[in-house]
Amino acid sequence: MAMVCLSDFEAYAKKYLPKIAWDFFAAGADDCSTRDENILAYKRIHFRPRMLRDVSMMDIRTKLLGTEISFPVGIAPTGFHQLAWPDGEKSTARAAKAMNTCYIASTYSTCTLEEISAAAPGGLQWFQLYIHRNRVVSQHLVQQAEALGFQGLVFTADLPYTGKRRDDVRNGFRLPPHMKLKNLEGAFEVCKMIPFIHCAGVLDPSVTWNDIYWLRSLTHLPIIIKGILTKEDAELAVRHGVQGIIVSNHGGRQLDGGPATIDALVEVVEAVQGRVEVYLDGGIRKGSDVLKALALGAKCVFIGRPALWGLAYKGEEGLQDVLRILQDEFRLSMALAGCASVSEIGRHLVQISKL
Ligand code: FNR
Repeated sequence: MAMVCLSDFEAYAKKYLPKIAWDFFAAGADDCSTRDENILAYKRIHFRPRMLRDVSMMDIRTKLLGTEISFPVGIAPTGFHQLAWPDGEKSTARAAKAMNTCYIASTYSTCTLEEISAAAPGGLQWFQLYIHRNRVVSQHLVQQAEALGFQGLVFTADLPYTGKRRDDVRNGFRLPPHMKLKNLEGAFEVCKMIPFIHCAGVLDPSVTWNDIYWLRSLTHLPIIIKGILTKEDAELAVRHGVQGIIVSNHGGRQLDGGPATIDALVEVVEAVQGRVEVYLDGGIRKGSDVLKALALGAKCVFIGRPALWGLAYKGEEGLQDVLRILQDEFRLSMALAGCASVSEIGRHLVQISKL
């Protein structure tokens, strides 16, 4: 089967992954309306393409907090990559490095941070943190990530509790016995025994904005807050000293009925006024989606599920295929819209009146 677009990888993953793993990756909260809206919202945004602008030489590189990446798409943190491919997060790390982009490794990885960092030495890696009730566990992870050379700390703010994902409840989703949450072994023994949905109860729901200061006291790494959807929270994030914001609704897996991320992006970008970098994840399935997000002010976007589909297809090679397709589509969309370099992308490219 020719793999032409990201939906081809989705179809493959759906066909070949065990149902319980497919359901876990695909899940949204409740009716999945926010998950689906993340994708539908792109279809309502239209371009204002410009012609005759010499697009013979294209420059699609950008920078994330000063580090150059090959194009403005990175890999969002998702858990349990061994459910998709035996080498799990090691394959993800290798693919990201090969494509010269950023990989955000999840707290819920099935490989250790050491394994992930050793799999792709010199690759741009950020570490995503969930704050646990046992703060010593979180503190240790943050400091370990910094010592291993991870270059950013992504603090996920939208999961005081796990959203209700119906298929996971029905399936009694849990990790197969041979897979482990490697970064939390010992601290988290209980997870082997009970369904994941209850296990997430070890996360600390009492976290507040003040905990950003606590994180700041633990590490010199730039802090990027993930899960912001409003101008009020964007302002608070800037005031609490973060270096970046990821506009995200966790792929529609948390509060169902929240906005599509591309719709929330505009108010966050307006509130931030360039003081910190703003990124987005959720629903990116085509190069033209990337172009729309950049036109509306995102510096970079991240993919969650499509990376898992790539892994499910052929591990590190499959994920590289996914990234390469997105890269080619993004370059083509830019050229057809009349932009030869990322710096030429701006609001003028989309029909604002229809937003
Ligand atoms: C996630 N997401 C997530 N986020 C996070 O901060 N830590 C995590 O461990 C996970 N785990 C996770 C697992 C799975 C299976 C999915 C689908 C998502 C959310 C993720 O980082 C991102 O916000 C969304 O996946 C983006 O939406 P798309 O690209 O999947 O549409």
